[in-house]
Amino acid sequence: KGAAGTRGEAFAPANIALCKYWGKRNEELNLPVNSSLSVSLGKLGTRTIVKFAKNADRIYLNGKPAPEYFASRTSAYLDLFRPEGVFFEVRTKNNIPTGAGLASSASGFAALVKALDQLFDWRFNPRELSMLARLGSGSATRSLYGGFAVWHAGQRADGMDSYAECVYEDLKDKKIPAQPSCKVWKNLCVGILEVSKARKPVGSTDGMNRTRETSELYNSWPHQAACDYDELRTAIAAEDFPMLGKTAENNALAMHSTMMAAWPPLCYWKPQTVSLMNKVWKAREDGLELFFTIDAGPNLKLLFLKKNQAAVKKLFPKVQIVSPF
Ligand code: PMV
Repeated sequence: KGAAGTRGEAFAPANIALCKYWGKRNEELNLPVNSSLSVSLGKLGTRTIVKFAKNADRIYLNGKPAPEYFASRTSAYLDLFRPEGVFFEVRTKNNIPTGAGLASSASGFAALVKALDQLFDWRFNPRELSMLARLGSGSATRSLYGGFAVWHAGQRADGMDSYAECVYEDLKDKKIPAQPSCKVWKNLCVGILEVSKARKPVGSTDGMNRTRETSELYNSWPHQAACDYDELRTAIAAEDFPMLGKTAENNALAMHSTMMAAWPPLCYWKPQTVSLMNKVWKAREDGLELFFTIDAGPNLKLLFLKKNQAAVKKLFPKVQIVSPF
């Protein structure tokens, strides 16, 4: 809209889906089968600076020239916006491990699109930016916001109704009565339990397509996701933590079940993932309000309330505790 500047710089938080996005109805536009809901990781995420460059794109990740897979994916995304003969310098820094199922592509594309918005002076609103971030990575749609975000699956073939917004705005639109404090759930904590930093062997697009095409259990996924999505919005509106935790954990296990029923089978877990899951279940049996979720990787994200922080730390000394708000 306005005149392009010389530089754009932006931060976007990582996000953890409580109701997962699993399955694409359109691969090119990253249009999902189901709506999803996430919570951000607060200060953990990506900071990106973008400038114009001469002759070729120059992509840096955490201060070094980016690995080929990262640079080519970034350049391919920049092609969507590239005026003829224009190149970019992109400097990206993550304060979360890259590619370990900790959603760095989500914060990465959200930060990049915000930085591009400044560079080109587009002045798009967050909904519009969320749709552009979606073209880089589906989960990036939700990383335009802090706190809880919903990504509407939408129905249109062109994806113009497939955007994200703060859950609070969505609740208001749907006239679902919500506690004002649900906008900022101060006492909610996310704990990261890292099992591996390695890049996942099967990318999420391939994983989703394989599951959709071959898993009998995938037939039940859209219905489960729709129910969990509603349940989570209700839990957030009422600030009902046990309902939130139970729904998120069940949703993650249902998603992983669809993958295990695919052929060839797909399992992102490592033995340590399963042993940590068992530890959470045991702690819950012993009365601790503790739940987990797992994305397309081996790492666990714990969900608990601040009052239980010390107990969680005692059980899992290596846990990295993050405040989503
Ligand atoms: O954004 P992608 O294409 O990496 O897919 C993310 C898929 C999950 O992390 C498993 C679920 C989600 O909603 O973030």
